[in-house]
Amino acid sequence: MLKNNKKRVLSGMRATGRLHIGNYLGAIKGMIELQENKQYEVFYMIADVHTITTPYDKDSLVQKRENVILDYLAAGLNPSKASIFIQSEISEHVELSYYLSSVVTVARMLHLPTYKDKIKQYPENATMALLNYPVLMASDILLYKADQVPVGIDQEPHLEVAREIARKMNDYYGTDFPEPTRFATKGGYIPSLLGEGKMSKTVEGSYINLTDNLDTILNKLAKAPTDSGKGFGVPNSGPVANLLQLVSLFEGDEKKKYYEQEYLSLGIKYTELKHDLATAIYLALEPIQDKRKDLESKKNYVQSVVEEGARKARIIAGHTVFEVKEKMGFI
Ligand code: TYM
Repeated sequence: MLKNNKKRVLSGMRATGRLHIGNYLGAIKGMIELQENKQYEVFYMIADVHTITTPYDKDSLVQKRENVILDYLAAGLNPSKASIFIQSEISEHVELSYYLSSVVTVARMLHLPTYKDKIKQYPENATMALLNYPVLMASDILLYKADQVPVGIDQEPHLEVAREIARKMNDYYGTDFPEPTRFATKGGYIPSLLGEGKMSKTVEGSYINLTDNLDTILNKLAKAPTDSGKGFGVPNSGPVANLLQLVSLFEGDEKKKYYEQEYLSLGIKYTELKHDLATAIYLALEPIQDKRKDLESKKNYVQSVVEEGARKARIIAGHTVFEVKEKMGFI
């Protein structure tokens, strides 16, 4: 009996660098909420195969992967409630993605905003792996027949592709893939500290890491662009709006409203705002950092978590691939 009556959840993060508060607010918070919900069987992976879709350093891949596992556990993913595993250890992810790619057109992939953004960032790297990114992601999700996917808003176009693939596979081959939906959190889009675009691991200066200390957070926020601090209307986009969003997420809506009043009257003093905000962010991260330090000395435990996660994932993945091969006429 492979599928109990629980719905499934699947999510993952690439091993491209230390996790930041965008990853935390946009994805990890939702991942934690769903692992606590007994209606779901939950799978969270380290998407190391997705890491090679943009230029990467092969010598530090294993280290970066370990960092994601530690960040996951420190931030509150609980291995007794969620299966935590490494994507490349379950070869069915890559295998299924190839089968799924037969129902996707090249034109559809070329038009995705995420693909266009990445080739702008890395013009020399318009590879097949990058083009296939969403198909591999669909494979990650469909392999576990997941209904819910806790990810940030930026991943919505990829989920749309996953739904299209599920529909086509079901139509053409009679599979029973559910159409996955994004599980949203309040911080589904955290902007870059630089005032333009989203906070991203691969854009230097754009992010605050979960491991940053108070001084680092203060320095990073000090560089965030602002304006004169007052005016006739509070900006609802751009650098000031971005700062106020972080205020709302880390200090609450009341504090944000207070600054909005200040903007329309005496003016915001940005040094004070940034100081208070840095302190609030640090207070939220401190318990995560303490837990991480503790985990760093427990290498065997961390290893056993991903071994157990892979064991559970492999059973389901093997079953789905067998079923797909059968329906597609291989068996
Ligand atoms: P990655 O590593 O780029 O991002 C990991 C997660 O963090 C979210 N995120 C953000 N949320 C809010 N504001 C931001 N500035 C911000 N930056 C990142 C992302 O939305 C994501 O949830 N494609 C995935 C990895 C993946 C995956 C999957 C996810 C591979 N296969 C299957 C779910 C299901 C990604 O973007 O990773």
